[in-house]
Amino acid sequence: MAFDSALQRQIMGRFATGVTVVTTAAGDEVSGMTANAVMSLSLDPPLVVVSVDRQATMHDLLQRGQCFAINILRREQEDLSNRFAQRGPKDFSDLETKTAESGAPILTAALAYVDCRLVEIAAAGDHDMFIGECLAGEAGDGAPLIFFGGRYGELSEASAKGE
Ligand SMILES: Cc1cc2nc3c(=O)[nH]c(=O)nc-3n(C[C@H](O)[C@H](O)[C@H](O)COP(=O)(O)O)c2cc1C
Repeated sequence: MAFDSALQRQIMGRFATGVTVVTTAAGDEVSGMTANAVMSLSLDPPLVVVSVDRQATMHDLLQRGQCFAINILRREQEDLSNRFAQRGPKDFSDLETKTAESGAPILTAALAYVDCRLVEIAAAGDHDMFIGECLAGEAGDGAPLIFFGGRYGELSEASAKGE
């Protein structure tokens, strides 16, 4: 079978991930985008990366804001994932947020977050990799939302408790 984007999606869809909402702020403008192409990149210095479609509204805003937060979603936050996967301006009005250090909004209901200063943008085809230096963060308890084979899922109860 010839290698194409459909096959790449099929293969990489077998790689189960969590789901995050990456948020940013540029002046008064805040936005967020559902993302699972995120990774812990380095511990010393502490760096994380998110891969962002060059066509996404978020791409331009991240460059202007120079900051982002990765908010890791809970099992019961599928609605937030769907909301932030819509293109265009995002409505934060009913969401409790706070700011840590970078100025990016943090979703306080998330399972965990890391707050970052943008340090580098690495070109990667139709996406760019936004590398952030971690400034602050918090890890809560609970079960994560999972994405696998193009669908949402969850860990078994025992795995979610770390047993
Ligand atoms: C589970 C899931 C994971 C996603 N991961 C990414 C990602 O890592 N990078 C990306 O650029 N888009 C990703 N998307 C698509 C964006 O969320 C979507 O294109 C969003 O509408 C972009 O909004 P914007 O153009 O207003 O910034 C993902 C969508 C879903 C549902």
